[in-house]
Amino acid sequence: MKKIGVIGSGSMGRALISGWTDSGAGIVAVVRDVEKYQYLEKSLGIDVTDDRSALLECDVVVIAIKPQLIKEILHEFQPYIAQHAIVISVAVGITTEFIGKCFPQTAEIVKAMPNTPSQIHMGVTCISAGESCSESSVMVAHELLSAVGEVFVVPESQQAAVGAVSGSGPAYLFFLAEYLQAGAQQLGLSADLADQLVRATLHGSAQLFAQSELTAARLRTQVTSPGGTTQAAMEVLDSQRVGEAIGAALEAGVARSIELGKS
Ligand SMILES: NC(=O)c1ccc[n+]([C@@H]2O[C@H](COP(=O)([O-])OP(=O)(O)OC[C@H]3O[C@@H](n4cnc5c(N)ncnc54)[C@H](OP(=O)(O)O)[C@@H]3O)[C@@H](O)[C@H]2O)c1
Repeated sequence: MKKIGVIGSGSMGRALISGWTDSGAGIVAVVRDVEKYQYLEKSLGIDVTDDRSALLECDVVVIAIKPQLIKEILHEFQPYIAQHAIVISVAVGITTEFIGKCFPQTAEIVKAMPNTPSQIHMGVTCISAGESCSESSVMVAHELLSAVGEVFVVPESQQAAVGAVSGSGPAYLFFLAEYLQAGAQQLGLSADLADQLVRATLHGSAQLFAQSELTAARLRTQVTSPGGTTQAAMEVLDSQRVGEAIGAALEAGVARSIELGKS
């Protein structure tokens, strides 16, 4: 069984850790403030420490700190990464080349773009091997991330695009949920009913989309009778150019990813 070290126990690090705890892997979270993250020890049964040397015993080290911080401090972890350890970075915009320069003792670098549904084993992760990374390390990363959802192998040049689509993707759905709930209340529904209706509708629709062989456009047509209420609603979304706004949002995500890699 592999021992996994996680640097960064925020939203993404925690999502991965909570997805992995069922797999029986030994997990240690290396944190700055043990008191702040002690609850992970109690709730998830993992080790939490501020002693970086705990990473030396890890076969796999996951880097889940902010890209800006990685540029500043990742090199400080160099003495604590074992020879030939597999390093998986989930940081947006940070290349395997950059990670490789910080940790010259290993060529086994994988870039991964997960998303937060990983915490309920329904994540999507796109992985890319660093230039000198072995096939067996990619398989280890694939297996590890498969424990928290679906895994796709993509060229590293596509990481910014997949980040905008599946990495940020949950945020788009939650944004829609927020506005549906607020709109439902404006129509006079209680907050509780609005919450239940929106959660159940998004859940059912997402399941239908995932299970159906029909395209999203075809499924939408099934809800949209000509001259009906849904059509009236869709005409408003079209006139407000919501579709174009989504395309522009994805492009902004890609641009920011490239910027984070450079700065
Ligand atoms: N959130 C997502 O949906 C998502 C999706 C795909 C990829 N990512 C990537 O995942 C990474 C983390 O994002 P996030 O959203 O999880 O950020 P976050 O919630 O801000 O978490 C960052 C974590 O890094 C910790 N940290 C900072 N410096 C540290 C150090 N020296 N040693 C140990 N831990 C340290 C922070 O601890 P403190 O509490 O001590 O500050 C915090 O727990 C980013 O690179 C992001 O690009 C995120």
